[in-house]
Amino acid sequence: MKLSIEKKDYSKVKSEAVVLGVFEKFSFPKEPFCKTIEEEAKKARFDGNVGESFFLKGTHFDGKVVLVLGLGKEDEYSIEKIRVALSNAVRKLKERFIESAVFAIHPEKSKDDFKETISTIAEVIVLTNRKFDRYITDRKKLFFGLNEAIIVIKELNKKAEEGIKKGKTLSEAVVFARDLITLPSNEVTPTYLAQEAMSIAKAYNFKAKILNEKECKKLGMNAFLTVAQGSKNQPKFIHLTYQNENAKKSIGIIGKGLTFDSGGISLKPAQGMGAMKSDMSGAAAVLATMKAIGELKPEVNVEMIIAACENMPSGKAYRPGDIIYTMSGKSIEVQNTDAEGRLTLADAITYTQKQKVDEIIDLATLTGACMIALGPDIAGIMGNDQNLINSLISISKKTGDSLWQLPLEEGYFRFIKSPIADICNNSSVRWGGAITAGLFLKFFVEKKIKWAHIDIAGPAYRDDDLNENHKAEGAGFGVRLLVNYLLGQKKV
Ligand code: BES
Ligand code: ZN
Ligand code: ZN
Repeated sequence: MKLSIEKKDYSKVKSEAVVLGVFEKFSFPKEPFCKTIEEEAKKARFDGNVGESFFLKGTHFDGKVVLVLGLGKEDEYSIEKIRVALSNAVRKLKERFIESAVFAIHPEKSKDDFKETISTIAEVIVLTNRKFDRYITDRKKLFFGLNEAIIVIKELNKKAEEGIKKGKTLSEAVVFARDLITLPSNEVTPTYLAQEAMSIAKAYNFKAKILNEKECKKLGMNAFLTVAQGSKNQPKFIHLTYQNENAKKSIGIIGKGLTFDSGGISLKPAQGMGAMKSDMSGAAAVLATMKAIGELKPEVNVEMIIAACENMPSGKAYRPGDIIYTMSGKSIEVQNTDAEGRLTLADAITYTQKQKVDEIIDLATLTGACMIALGPDIAGIMGNDQNLINSLISISKKTGDSLWQLPLEEGYFRFIKSPIADICNNSSVRWGGAITAGLFLKFFVEKKIKWAHIDIAGPAYRDDDLNENHKAEGAGFGVRLLVNYLLGQKKV
């Protein structure tokens, strides 16, 4: 899509439609058609609430369709409100098969930073507009949404230009993550993820290391390899490094990379198993983050780690009851082969700690329990450093990747004690599963390292159409959160 920002009167821009934002208790622009709007607004029961909208009858300003969009209270106008209102508007345009639109939604009135406001507008337009349709062979039946969007503003300045660049970069990265998640496991294998990582490394000059099974074995990554052993698809351990000359800190970002999770011998029920192609959503998020930081160049060093493999039942698969030694030397009793993510992450954490990082953030579709606790829109965050958790939560409020902190209650460690090994991969009780999974990971984190774990099982993959997201697609959850967190490091 062609996306641009212009200092122009919306009525003078050439396009098929105009989205005209109005605040609650609106007073319409002094235009000849303003009386018509007021009458039609009344008829449409339109109050200007966030996301309310209606199409004006006929066309205006040289044949344009006009969508009047509610932006809520003027003094509360913010990035959060823009996300809701604008995604509704783009959906409406799509329903009318509109291909080009000008957006007059007053970004200068937002309470938030102007650059971030413009970036958000760009993100919402691109992401709401786009739908995953690669496998539909009858292309004639498809409507591809807007192919041109123009945002009009009062003053063109540096912040506006930077906002557009950031918004484009972020939305491209999120689309990249969504594609990876939505593509099925017969395409996206561990090798495929490794190839994607290699092409990102090439494009941005990152150091790249892809370890095969033999090399992982040498390093003692038995927990990771044990999960992988049931599948004929070879595991790949993926490590990218981004370095910035002004960096004062090194941050490890780890993504759970199960390209398919059947549950293994502890097989999952058939219903909904297909969605487990999305069990690499953490990996997709960290890969997409690397793509974005290659463009935006934050002042920090980043080590990106993915232990990519597939969890399958077979004659070679691991079994409940097996005991394995991790790369850290600690032993794990396996009681459920479906609790595989924490096994792969245990070795990934140990490896990352050897890269001399100051902090680790991991993103993982780790537990159904987290989804039960927080529902489909919110991820759970846990960790050993409240400042790190607080900064991530505060950033998430602006990026739209909602987080809620769960307590890493030490007392619950008793549920994952093993009578014959150092720890068990399955809890002895049914409750608190997101927390016991968090405690399991914590067992492998050195005390000196600040660590946050984000369980994205709920929001990683969409069952419903919501705002920027589409049904049965990956959400790209966490990409904007991580990128903004890394960009914020320059002040440290
Ligand atoms: N990948 C799943 C978690 C998951 C469930 C992600 C639903 C997204 C949606 C994970 O590997 C898993 O199966 N976890 C088990 C852990 C249990 C066996 C301790 C779970 O949550 O049931
Ligand atoms: Zn599982
Ligand atoms: Zn899993």
